[in-house]
Amino acid sequence: MSDPKKLFVKTYGCQMNVYDSERMVEALGTKGYVTTDTVEDADMVLLNTCHIREKASEKLYSDLGRLRKLKLARPDLKVGVAGCVAQAEGAEILRRAPVVDLVVGPQSYHRLPEMVEAKGRVIDTEFPAEDKFDHLPERRAMRGPTAFLTVQEGCDKFCAFCVVPYTRGAEVSRPADRLMAEARDLVARGVRDITLLGQNVNAYHGAGAGGEWTLARLIREMAGIEGLARIRYTTSHPNDMDDDLIAAHGDVPALMPYLHLPVQSGSDRILKAMNRKHTSDSYLRLIERIRAARPDILFSSDFIVGFPGETDADFEATLALIREVRFGAAYSFKYSARPGTPAAEKAAVETPVADARLQAVQALVTAQQRAAQDAMVGREVTVLYEKAGRMPGQMVGKSDHLHAVHVTDSEGRIGDLVRVRVTSAVTNSLGAEPVGR
Ligand code: 5AD
Ligand code: SF4
Repeated sequence: MSDPKKLFVKTYGCQMNVYDSERMVEALGTKGYVTTDTVEDADMVLLNTCHIREKASEKLYSDLGRLRKLKLARPDLKVGVAGCVAQAEGAEILRRAPVVDLVVGPQSYHRLPEMVEAKGRVIDTEFPAEDKFDHLPERRAMRGPTAFLTVQEGCDKFCAFCVVPYTRGAEVSRPADRLMAEARDLVARGVRDITLLGQNVNAYHGAGAGGEWTLARLIREMAGIEGLARIRYTTSHPNDMDDDLIAAHGDVPALMPYLHLPVQSGSDRILKAMNRKHTSDSYLRLIERIRAARPDILFSSDFIVGFPGETDADFEATLALIREVRFGAAYSFKYSARPGTPAAEKAAVETPVADARLQAVQALVTAQQRAAQDAMVGREVTVLYEKAGRMPGQMVGKSDHLHAVHVTDSEGRIGDLVRVRVTSAVTNSLGAEPVGR
């Protein structure tokens, strides 16, 4: 047999892209590709791009510039561009970057094996009617104890700043029986913690036995899979948190007490301009209802500062909302205009002002994150071991609340769920020891 061809994948952006990159690696595995961590060794380089924030295409073209040099030395090198920049810019990439051999949008990854064998340069950025996952190969090997499972893609919300409805297309939910089968298969191969993924995951409404299933129904059914200890989901829109999903946080033990619920701003005026269709007050009431179902739940969120028209008072309202909720984690971004979105027509807040707001919001959420983490010290928590730590006799994993935990445990094995007592908190992780040992 000939030597395997080597594939180098660079993934930008969200967990959906991480998941898609894994699927592309598997699809190209059918053509004899194995992954490499060294770009210089690669026979093929695949850039899985993200278009959601700042300078995505500049980053892409500067990476392509470097690859051009590599290809001068190695003319057989294949270069592919996937992801949302591929979807948004399409043929423009082939025109601007002669180094590129193929451009593939997120809905066409199942066609990659054919595309790499095609003669000449190829592009596929269609939105086909079929489910791309029907055509991607089954995953068979044993794997780590955590996995992502994409349950829906795309978004119909059209927030004024966001490219997702354009690059990922309309909201499509995958059929529930497929997802149940995939979850069972993952569990059979050692997975104990599944994160259900979707750009608008809680809008899930896939075809299932007895009619459409909601996300709550899907979670309830998956919780019945023997051996599946933990379920999470991300990312949610506040308006799609239905009563049953809120109730599930109280009565499904496998549903973990951590929820990423982006709010973007605390100002009703800005929320309206963002086309978010919720208010600061409706968000706060929602948080209260979820906390009533699951009092120890930790929330995380996304914030955008410097959205066009944001005044000091608007920004103060965002800080006030953050103070009121007390987040366990949060991600904040400076607004950047995405071409083709409605907000891109308007003037953004001046850079120094936006920079100062970003710093202020980050200081506040970092303090909250730290407080949530410090509050775990002395408590007993459950950790799922994902890998050995850097120190001998140390295991690393996540708590139910998604804190990274380093446990001193020389008997620990990957995949174990262990009760531990938290003994210390450092910047981004907790230290712990097994209970009763
Ligand atoms: N500018 C800044 N941040 C953005 N996000 C999405 N689009 C933009 C943009 N144009 C942020 C939102 C979203 C997260 C994934 O990225 O906060 O929730
Ligand atoms: Fe983008 Fe999320 Fe708004 Fe959809 S709900 S448009 S993915 S920010």
